[in-house]
Amino acid sequence: MNYIVAISGASGAIYAQRLLQALAQEGARIQLIISDTARLVIKHELGIELAADPTAQKAIIAEQILGKSDYPHLHIHAIDNLAASIASGTAPIDAMIVLPCSMGTLSRIAHGISGNLIERSADVALKEKRPLILAPRETPLNTIHLRNMLELSQAGAQIIPCMPAFYHCPKQINDLIDFVVGKILDALKIDHQLFKRWE
Ligand SMILES: Cc1cc2nc3c(=O)[nH]c(=O)nc-3n(C[C@H](O)[C@H](O)[C@H](O)COP(=O)(O)O)c2cc1C
Repeated sequence: MNYIVAISGASGAIYAQRLLQALAQEGARIQLIISDTARLVIKHELGIELAADPTAQKAIIAEQILGKSDYPHLHIHAIDNLAASIASGTAPIDAMIVLPCSMGTLSRIAHGISGNLIERSADVALKEKRPLILAPRETPLNTIHLRNMLELSQAGAQIIPCMPAFYHCPKQINDLIDFVVGKILDALKIDHQLFKRWE
């Protein structure tokens, strides 16, 4: 299992934290890309300060997000490194997830603007017909947002909004986070216990 996880600058960094933990629990290879605004949001919402340099980010993410001294399957790519292996369709990637997905990143992917590594990797996922999961977070949604989501859905992406349900009777914030992350794991066909299924 080799996944690209992209964190963009929408609210909801905790969703990304939980997804990374779940993928690491599976022993998956993780190709991580974090946008510059996502670093701001991560600092504000999780209290975790990340340098721009991926090498410096790795130890902090392993320790403060994954709770491990090291996670050897974690590969962090600089957002502006368009020469990274994952910028090419030849990289053996099983799926890409953008969580949370800002309306800016969503719009640029919808329009094929491959200006940074998140956008280029998503473009590659679409052209190679690989699973591309986008988890947008914004409210209210304007017509442009909605059109872009339709465009992406028609191009083969799967839109899984950061939109928790309540029928599993959540008791704490983590239950809400786990519902959304569990839906993403379902889309990746990864077995999990993050929420109780409706019976
Ligand atoms: C604290 C904070 C929260 C934000 N929340 C959202 C959000 O929920 N959804 C969104 O689309 N943009 C949000 N934004 C705005 C985006 O970060 C901004 O549009 C940025 O250009 C996105 O860049 P990126 O997609 O390259 O990360 C937020 C910005 C900040 C600083």
